Amino acid sequence: MRFGTRSRNNGLHPHFTLPPPPKEKSQKAQNPFPLGKSLMNYSCSRYELKCNECGKGYGNQPLSACPDCIAPLEVIYDLDAVRGIFTRENIAAGPANIWRYAALLPIPDGFQPDLPVGFTPLVRAKNLGKRIGATNLYVKNDAVCFPTLSFKDRVVSVALANAQKFGFETVGCSSTGNLANSVAAQSARLGLKACILVPADLEPAKILNTQVYGARLVRIDGNYDHVNRLCTQIADEYAWGFVNVNLRPYYAEGSKTVGYEIAEQLGWRLPDNVVVPMAGGSLIRKIRKAFNELIYLGLVEEKPVRFFGAQATGCSPISVAVKQGTDDVVPQRPNTIARSLAIGNPNDGPAAAKMILGSGGWAEDVSDLEIVSGIQELAETEGIFTETAGGVTTAVTARLYADSRIAKDQITVTCITGNGLKTTDALNGHYQQERAVRPRLADFDAYLRELDGLAEPELVAAGGK
Ligand SMILES: Cc1ncc(COP(=O)(O)O)c(C=O)c1O
Ligand SMILES: [Zn+2]
Repeated sequence: MRFGTRSRNNGLHPHFTLPPPPKEKSQKAQNPFPLGKSLMNYSCSRYELKCNECGKGYGNQPLSACPDCIAPLEVIYDLDAVRGIFTRENIAAGPANIWRYAALLPIPDGFQPDLPVGFTPLVRAKNLGKRIGATNLYVKNDAVCFPTLSFKDRVVSVALANAQKFGFETVGCSSTGNLANSVAAQSARLGLKACILVPADLEPAKILNTQVYGARLVRIDGNYDHVNRLCTQIADEYAWGFVNVNLRPYYAEGSKTVGYEIAEQLGWRLPDNVVVPMAGGSLIRKIRKAFNELIYLGLVEEKPVRFFGAQATGCSPISVAVKQGTDDVVPQRPNTIARSLAIGNPNDGPAAAKMILGSGGWAEDVSDLEIVSGIQELAETEGIFTETAGGVTTAVTARLYADSRIAKDQITVTCITGNGLKTTDALNGHYQQERAVRPRLADFDAYLRELDGLAEPELVAAGGK
């Protein structure tokens, strides 16, 4: 787990070694923001970027893939060096947010976190459990994550700490919605300029929830994969800090905090099963990484944990691969109401599929109708209003119990990652606006009888006069 000290100047991404080439006058005029300050790398004794494939270290810099083998870079920690620091006691003495785990987050030395992100409730879901045949079910409720009501607040806060350290003045992201909201909100607070790109067909609430913070929002006429490809080009050309492009290795680490919190909230125990929604496939992998670190450092007892991935059938490249027993993920063209999960060519798909299969878990996908039922079921049983991604997770969880893939009494955590107020359009046509009732007891009585089917609407109307 150790890494040695090395020159921090090696392996700079070619696009960050030289200033951008001089532009034509007309092109320059189109650049909406000036270039960031001089970009740099930094050294840190606790962690650095390493190639997943060849193991080469890259220090700390805005770089997501190994230039030699094009494999993703991962943040690797000197775990033994934090052994005496990352303890149950120190964590308990820390703030009630993700920064209590700062020793195992890629936070530059001297960074002073001030946003209380995360540490969302882990709630026992007895009622939902009763309905789906589970006796030991918990909901990890990131529908109430601060500040923008999705787990993306975790990843963005870690990414922006690095964006500031690297000297970016403008940050951005390609997003299926929640990330856009979070980058917009957090960059506003930090005084960073934000340029955010989304597929044009995003839910209206997610568009508004980005614009309200004053971020520049660009709707792209294409799906997420088109948006993401464009962002890769923009990040290079404009030297902006894109949280899920050139800052991706740091960004992704923020998801580990879901895993730390689950273990701590279960009383420093690991669950038997975790059900996690998948888009790019990063969150599910990082929960696994968090559990591994806790085991290595002795904060929890080692035990097998099975990972279950959840997708919408209309965008199910990872679940299809898992069902075929392979990590060969074939891209799809998304077509689902679960837009936050609509990534047809998932960055971490193969690694996620491999991890799920290796854990003895499974992946499932559900139809748009089942997604709506999942939203309703969680709301009606536990009082938690989740967005479409949570509908996917709830419906998949129900299916896993129904198919006996998860045993009734095992400790199972289902991860709800976003808030239902952002995707109310998914419920269009399912609830009607009731007519107004006059403020008189007789009218109320009549109205209740009407609702209960005991009186004809005409009689109620007449009786109320
Ligand atoms: C609400 C919600 N849940 C889950 C995910 C999946 O995360 P990942 O891309 O890490 O698989 C996303 C991604 O956008 C999301 O917005
Ligand atoms: Zn490599």
